[in-house]
Amino acid sequence: MDVALPPGMERILFTEEQVAARVREVAAEIDAKYQGRELKLISVLKGSVFFLTALARAITVPVKIDFLGISSFGGPAKDGHSPGLVRIAKDLDEPIDGEDVLLIEDIVDTGFTTRYLLQTLAGRGPNSLAICTLLDRTVRRIVQVPVEFRCFEIPDRFVVGCGLDYRQLYRNLGYIGVMNPDGLGKHS
Ligand code: PRP
Repeated sequence: MDVALPPGMERILFTEEQVAARVREVAAEIDAKYQGRELKLISVLKGSVFFLTALARAITVPVKIDFLGISSFGGPAKDGHSPGLVRIAKDLDEPIDGEDVLLIEDIVDTGFTTRYLLQTLAGRGPNSLAICTLLDRTVRRIVQVPVEFRCFEIPDRFVVGCGLDYRQLYRNLGYIGVMNPDGLGKHS
């Protein structure tokens, strides 16, 4: 089915159907690993909310959910993205000691955010802690983080949809689209 692309959208990288199919596959991988256990899904606001809900619906082991809000400080990085200095702006509602925790991200890029969150959450005594991301842009990685579950590896392009925004817009698109950076600046 043809989809009308919004202004500035260059092309669709992954269709809604491709995203849904891949989410189901990753949910099956998660089910296999955590069979017989309960899982705590921790969503990093705001971008991962859409992926969290799709994934949680597809997972069959019992899941609980909680949310973390973060903010970055120290000035923007050269690409306008995470500068590597991160703090928790909205903490979890519940403790995670003894729990099997899966940190849900929409994208892992430089790795700074994920590294900080892993270090912070590990200090709270979970039984296990792993990362699941919708998109992995390893070409931009600066610090190494152990991404256990990923739906898609993506090229070094500015992408929106499925939770990812351009100036807070386009998070609600069901597909992953590539924005044309000409005249739009470079954000993600
Ligand atoms: C994105 C994403 C990760 C972080 C990854 O959040 O959700 O939290 O960037 O980048 P990094 O690997 O370079 O640290 P963003 O700051 O865009 O916030 P948002 O989810 O509210 O849009």
